[in-house]
Amino acid sequence: MKLLKSDIKDKAKDIQDEASSHEEKVQKIISNLSEDANIKLDKDKAEETAKETEQKATKMMKTYLGEERDTSEALEFLCIAEGGEVTHYEVLSTICKNFDNKEVSSAVSSILKEEQNHLKRCLNMAKEAVVSSQ
Ligand SMILES: [Fe+2]
Repeated sequence: MKLLKSDIKDKAKDIQDEASSHEEKVQKIISNLSEDANIKLDKDKAEETAKETEQKATKMMKTYLGEERDTSEALEFLCIAEGGEVTHYEVLSTICKNFDNKEVSSAVSSILKEEQNHLKRCLNMAKEAVVSSQ
């Protein structure tokens, strides 16, 4: 079965929509942790760090894809980005083990599973794109 660019865009849009819900969950986690008497988090600093990370990712994407953007390369970059997200939430999940906050641990675990699913879906799209182009 040939993978169409519109299929790729639809699948990528689904993943992007889920990523937006992750941002809301992370904000809730930050608020939750800020309420914990033992943890002092600076929400402004967290938002600034998130913005910086997004800018770095955008710069990396532009460097990786170059001027002539190819679907397979774009999907490979998506896989790299999703792999980074899986790593981030794996580490966060480990950090959460130091705190007795089941709500936060559960939210991080939930996001981690979704990110692992994103990576799997992106890998499948990248593989399908290669097969379709042959
Ligand atoms: Fe993701």
